[in-house]
Amino acid sequence: MNAQNKDAAIAAAAACLAAGGLVAFPTETVYGLGADARNGEAIARLYAAKGRPRFNPLIAHVADAAAARRLARFDAAAEKLAAAFWPGPLTLVLPKRPDCAVADLALAGLDSVAVRVPAHPVAQALLAAFAGPVVAPSANRSGHVSPTSAAHVLADLRGRVDMVIDAGPCAVGLESTIVACLDVPTLLRPGGLPREEIERVLGRRLALAAVSDKAPLAPGMLSSHYAPKAKLRLNADMAAPGEALLGFGPAHEAALNLSPRGDLIEAAANLFSHLRALDASGAGSIAVMKVPREGLGEAINDRLVRAAAPKAGKAK
Ligand code: TXA
Ligand code: MG
Repeated sequence: MNAQNKDAAIAAAAACLAAGGLVAFPTETVYGLGADARNGEAIARLYAAKGRPRFNPLIAHVADAAAARRLARFDAAAEKLAAAFWPGPLTLVLPKRPDCAVADLALAGLDSVAVRVPAHPVAQALLAAFAGPVVAPSANRSGHVSPTSAAHVLADLRGRVDMVIDAGPCAVGLESTIVACLDVPTLLRPGGLPREEIERVLGRRLALAAVSDKAPLAPGMLSSHYAPKAKLRLNADMAAPGEALLGFGPAHEAALNLSPRGDLIEAAANLFSHLRALDASGAGSIAVMKVPREGLGEAINDRLVRAAAPKAGKAK
């Protein structure tokens, strides 16, 4: 995209959102499927396009912390985190203000609202042009892995969205880290911002949300939410007959490698595209080599465990 085409695409996308349309756009984490957060009808179409269960609330994306403060109440911890990490791959779940503009449908009946200021220049430009909150779940069909390229978006949602802005692959490749600041700061979803960095800024450990499929605190965290079609075996040393090996670090036999040099940032950026590619290659079973748990490894292992979970109770 040259600069002029880019401006025209952003203006068209903002007009599409204002008219109640659905726009898939890049963020630094994954591609999002955007709708006007104030437009209940547009949000209903968004749930239908994703095939997403209604109880799953959406993240409101805004251009800056000032816009987020019009939707939600920030305590001292939330202010610290916003100052340190926005724009960036962090979502804050906060008490919603009484005059919060986000439609009730997008909040799934909760008294809290999830807010995020994305860093991607295209997301920033779109939010500035639209000048209002945009709800955006990851732009995949419910239960599939998140899209990290425009091609992934089209594979899942072609014909179901009004516009897709293609700006190449996402740099982070994992969804945002979600922290609730409702009472003690609590980690709801590990993600593209490592927990250690958040704890360093807060000067304390994050509490952990008790995960339960019956009443999930971050309802999207159903155990088999991030699911490829293939069966996954984790912490493998090598592939068994009939398995495709997803490598991490040096691995001769790997069909694909998350990061041949064992780099967690590179592995995060490759995770969802490699899972999709192995699925598309027809591999029925994937053996995944061990990925260390520190830094982004926490979120990578979280997604792998969900992807490997039995599909029976899967969100549809
Ligand atoms: O990186 C990301 O966060 C991407 C990009 C597009 O911004 N978005 C994303 O959205 O991953 P989604 O809808 O796929 O995941 C949002 C998660 C869900 O698990 C949802 O249940 C949770 O956030 N969530 C939203 N509002 C919440 C709330 N008020 N309380 C607890 N969890 C909430
Ligand atoms: Mg998602």
